[in-house]
Parts: sequence; C-alpha cells; structure tokens
Amino acid sequence: MNKFIAPSMLAADFANLQRDIEMINNSKADWFHIDVMDGMFVPNISFGMPVISAIKKHAKKIMDVHLMIVDPDRYIADFKKVGADILTVHYEACPHLHRTVQEIKRQGMKAGVSLNPHTPIAVLEDIIADLDLVLIMSVNPGFGGQSFIENTYKKVQQLRALIEFSESDALIEVDGGVTDQNIEQLLEAGADAFVAGSFVFKSENPTETIANLKGLVSG
Ligand code: DX5
Ligand code: ZN
Repeated sequence: MNKFIAPSMLAADFANLQRDIEMINNSKADWFHIDVMDGMFVPNISFGMPVISAIKKHAKKIMDVHLMIVDPDRYIADFKKVGADILTVHYEACPHLHRTVQEIKRQGMKAGVSLNPHTPIAVLEDIIADLDLVLIMSVNPGFGGQSFIENTYKKVQQLRALIEFSESDALIEVDGGVTDQNIEQLLEAGADAFVAGSFVFKSENPTETIANLKGLVSG
C-alpha cells in the first residue's frame, strides 16, 4: 500500500511561505499538513482561513487539514471552501462525532479523526468503519518540536488490528516528533502517513530530508 509523507506547514517560514510551498511541490512529499489551533482546544493559536487560502493558491498536492479547535462543526463548510481535501477533527472536541464525520463527507472531503496521546484506540470501535483516516498524536497537540511519545507504537498496532477486524479502509497517520529515527518502527507498527514538521524544516536540506523519509517508508 502507498505510504505518505506530510510535512507540517506549522514549521515553515511564514515570511517565506510561497518559497516553502514550492519546496514541497518540488519534493517527494505527498501531502501538505496544515495545523489549525484555536487557543482553546490547545494552548496555542496558529493560523486560519486566509493563510490556508494562500497556501491552497500555490499548493499542488493534497491539503491535509488537522483541526485542533473546539466545536469544529461550525467551520466544516469553510474548510471545504478554502481547499481542504482531508479534514481531521479531534475525538476529544466532538460530542457528536458520528454527525461531524458524516457532514465532512457530505461536503466532499475525506474524514479523519485524531486521538490525543491519552485517548485509547477503543473509543473508535463504533466509528472506524466510517473513517477515511485516523490521526494518532505522538505528542500532546499544540506545538511543533516536541519529543515523540514511545507509547505511540503500541497504539498504532492496536489501531491496525481494529482496522483489519472492522474491514475499514482508514489510513493511519502519525503526527508529532516524527524523524528518521522512529519512522521505520512506525511503518512496521502499521502506519500509512507520517507528519514531520521540525525534522523537515529545521534540517539543512528539507527537500533531501523529505526524500530520505519517503525512501525509508517505500518498500
Ligand atoms: C502538533 C501538530 C503537529 C506538529 C508536528 O500539535 O499537530 O502537526 O506541527 O511538528 P513536529 O514534527 O515538529 O513535532
Ligand atoms: Zn498536526
């Protein structure tokens, strides 16, 4: 099965956004990972619709939008308008998750659900068949540049088993602290998509770093 590298734009240079977008366009990356934070669900505020529209204007790859916001139902149509292809909401932010997921799909996007590090895989049992993607947080959401939580491997394995058992088509994405040191073990555990922010953008040659990550997960 295809494996996907998704550089996180949170770690890009916002004063040189177009340059960093073109770097990703011309790299082996598969998706643009876009982190939206509201200062409520997570302590940090990142960016909103105008910045996403600006990215969309130049981006030539899938827009993978990760919402770390309370009550995301209010904005599903808006995220479609600004160009999201995959829209991921947090389990912890959605009291009516089934309805939220159906609405994302109805608007023509792929639906993802993300779990915080302390949230068990079992909460997905009754929704997994409806999902296109599950995003496992391997750091506490809110900031780039944190260190990877080792318990993630076990969660990815449990999720892979649940997906197989339920005959779901959901992809498994891992987000936070992903580097060349853990990506192969994540692949082995069953992950399909890998978000990398700091590891890509703080490296000397981001294009090469992306190519290396892609090489490590492509059989
Ligand atoms: C964290 C975000 C991540 C973050 C990853 O809340 O969801 O996407 O940008 O950044 P790194 O790879 O630096 O941990
Ligand atoms: Zn993210």
